[in-house]
Amino acid sequence: MGKVHERVEGRLRAFVERQHVFFVGTAPLAGDGHVNVSPRGIPGTFGLLDERTFAWVDTSGSGSETIAHLRENGRIVVMFCAFDGAPNVVRFHGRGRVVTRYDEGYAELAARFVDLPGARAVIVVDIDRVSDACGYGVPLMDYAGERDLLPRYFRRKGVEGSADYRRRKNRTSIDGLPAYDYDPLDEWATLDGLGRIRERLAAQIDDWTYPMSFGLALDGELGHVNLPGGQHRLAAVVLATVLKHDGSTATIAVSPQQLSEAITALAPATACTEVDHPNLAAWRALRDAYDERGGVITAVFVRDGADPVTSPVDADLRGRW
Ligand SMILES: Cc1cc2nc3c(=O)[nH]c(=O)nc-3n(C[C@H](O)[C@H](O)[C@H](O)COP(=O)(O)O)c2cc1C
Repeated sequence: MGKVHERVEGRLRAFVERQHVFFVGTAPLAGDGHVNVSPRGIPGTFGLLDERTFAWVDTSGSGSETIAHLRENGRIVVMFCAFDGAPNVVRFHGRGRVVTRYDEGYAELAARFVDLPGARAVIVVDIDRVSDACGYGVPLMDYAGERDLLPRYFRRKGVEGSADYRRRKNRTSIDGLPAYDYDPLDEWATLDGLGRIRERLAAQIDDWTYPMSFGLALDGELGHVNLPGGQHRLAAVVLATVLKHDGSTATIAVSPQQLSEAITALAPATACTEVDHPNLAAWRALRDAYDERGGVITAVFVRDGADPVTSPVDADLRGRW
């Protein structure tokens, strides 16, 4: 039955390192903050560094809760369940630290594991309590294989594309705590750099064509109108990336979360002081107005002025040309 161990060694270590999945739990300090559990376990990317230290290679992903919580308070529990063989549940309680791909010491740590496309950090857990429990309630399951989707996704994006993704998805936690905000922003500081970022994003959207005009509206009221012939192509591709849209003529419902994501994604562009950022300012104003009074947010894209009008907001947009 349940037992506390001094260290992780022998059979316990072998059990941990042959798992196909484990779970990590963290929480922010705020009493009303969102706690988090994330699955991990990509083969060859986790293991014991010594009998009181566990580590895994942390890949870019849809969130960055674990890193945010570790940065704030360090507390973590790692759990392994025996889905085959003898029943067991093992927990490591401890303190986790984040060694990012930009930190000294990363290469040495990462070299202990297989190369993982999209890797953003190695998380090192200094274990202060090792325990196991009977595991009698854990179901028996057969392992059918890896999906391989996550590494493939980030292999396709490449190093820079993965950093673009993290700037959009990983900079803060659900509660707004700083999370993975380590990717350098130098490229964002120049017009040339913004152009390269724009083209990288555009290349990742199937059948992408730049719209000649677009805008965002709250309850049908347009904010900034991007006129035909204007300098708005980065904002257009950022918004389209978030909305999973190809830039064709359309009126699209935008959720408040999507608006926030678009703002986060475009915000680093303020590092470039050679140009104004009217879309970013308008999107922020729109979000403030939404936070105050709610409403319906829509995006309008017009690829070609000859396309049929898709909504009253679309008609309004074209009326401003
Ligand atoms: C079965 C499974 C195994 C996973 N293994 C890993 C892993 O080994 N390393 C990793 O960084 N992410 C892994 N992930 C993805 C993360 O759970 C995902 O990226 C998550 O969004 C990041 O969690 P966070 O918000 O706690 O940072 C795995 C996901 C699943 C479903």
